[in-house]
Amino acid sequence: MKVLGIAGSPRRGGNTDTLLSRFMEGAALKGAEVKTLVACDLNINGCLHCDACLTKGQCKVQDDMQIVYKEMKAADGIVLASPLQFLSVSAQLKALIDRCQALWARKYILKVPPLGDERERRGFFISVGGRKTVPNLFDAELATVKILFKTLNVVYTGDILVRGIDARGDILKHPESLEEAFLAGQKFVEI
Ligand SMILES: Cc1cc2nc3c(=O)[nH]c(=O)nc-3n(C[C@H](O)[C@H](O)[C@H](O)COP(=O)(O)O)c2cc1C
Repeated sequence: MKVLGIAGSPRRGGNTDTLLSRFMEGAALKGAEVKTLVACDLNINGCLHCDACLTKGQCKVQDDMQIVYKEMKAADGIVLASPLQFLSVSAQLKALIDRCQALWARKYILKVPPLGDERERRGFFISVGGRKTVPNLFDAELATVKILFKTLNVVYTGDILVRGIDARGDILKHPESLEEAFLAGQKFVEI
């Protein structure tokens, strides 16, 4: 099984990076071939809404999103990780998600498999937020991620959402969350 991780945080080695790494270690332990793309290291422009994808089924913008399309197609499982930013995913990850409009066009306009084949792919989401007590803290972000996975025909298999995590390294004070990520990575491969 090929598992693609997409790290959405602009803070390298931060809290979501750390959780994603543990998840990927768990997946690798169970034999998965793992690969992580770091959104902020890629040159991904926002969607231009040029509508070229509506007829061609692919995005005409030649930037690093072409790498992401390729890796998503190759993957059997996709794991997104993002810090909560203004109640949504990071801007870097949002640009990547918006560029999946080309895959939306494939599925809903051109009626072809968004990722090129009918394989059932699995999805998982990891996020942290600094606030502790705000109700429904992750709801808006979750709505975005779930609609992305639905568009890609990726089955949403679960998430790890940790609140009250703000400073760099805060997640290290929560070994139970790191363990949860490690175990979730293992389970992701075994489902
Ligand atoms: C631009 C920005 C917006 C943020 N917005 C929120 C927010 O809406 N709610 C929240 O709980 N935390 C918010 N935070 C805090 C981050 O989610 C928190 O610091 C997180 O631990 C960062 O994870 P990382 O180390 O993986 O980047 C925000 C941080 C930044 C930089």
